[in-house]
Amino acid sequence: MTAKQRFEVERIMNALCYCDFEDFGTDHKDDVISVFRTHYKGGLSWSIDTGASKLVLIFPDFVIKIPFKYNWDDELIGANSQDGECWDYCAAELEQYEFAEQNGFAEFFAAVEYLGKVNGHPIYFQELADIYCMRGSDSTEAEVEEFEESDESNQCRWLDLDSYWRCDVLKYYGKEKYKAFINYLADVNIEDLHSGNIGYINSRPVLIDFSGWNN
Ligand SMILES: Nc1ncnc2c1ncn2[C@@H]1O[C@H](COP(=O)(O)OP(=O)(O)OP(=O)(O)O)[C@@H](O)[C@H]1O
Ligand SMILES: [Mg+2]
Repeated sequence: MTAKQRFEVERIMNALCYCDFEDFGTDHKDDVISVFRTHYKGGLSWSIDTGASKLVLIFPDFVIKIPFKYNWDDELIGANSQDGECWDYCAAELEQYEFAEQNGFAEFFAAVEYLGKVNGHPIYFQELADIYCMRGSDSTEAEVEEFEESDESNQCRWLDLDSYWRCDVLKYYGKEKYKAFINYLADVNIEDLHSGNIGYINSRPVLIDFSGWNN
């Protein structure tokens, strides 16, 4: 995180202090968003995205991720984190990122940072990426066909990872790193890599949601 980002993040955290996260879930996120909108005094433009387990505030060059506690049925969400409170899918993501850092795979991930708790609720920072389902691939159909014919990875069927994005990974990182990365994903059990969970930072292919789902 740059010094400028840290300054902006502080203003975001100050605004989030007004939010009540007691019943924070897919059904109750609108209250948090509207209170944040009222109190955020920073100058950055921002928008909202959500998935099944997180609210994401999207700023011009980073995102703030806030894990849901409850799902649509008001049931406590279950996550794959080994430590701490088990509903926190962002904690699962941070754990994966730190493990990737220790094992030399961090470049394949959008960096995550834990910012601390606000009113008892954990808040996280992540680098901004262009999401694959919005941006598309850099590879051509012909390149992907050739790639699919020569791809030796036997993990890809299990991973269900888009072959255009995998082709971009191979082109950007090279064959050795590509193979090591695919094997690593299987080893650490990262799954649910649909087109909204992968992307690019500039032209570097990265995972943006690696908390998994059913682990
Ligand atoms: N680093 C990022 N940069 C840009 N957009 C992001 C980033 N992280 C998340 N998003 C957007 O927010 C959406 C939800 O975030 P994320 O996938 O991490 O949450 P989730 O609730 O676990 O999703 P899922 O429904 O896949 O379980 C993403 O699909 C993406 O569109
Ligand atoms: Mg997702």
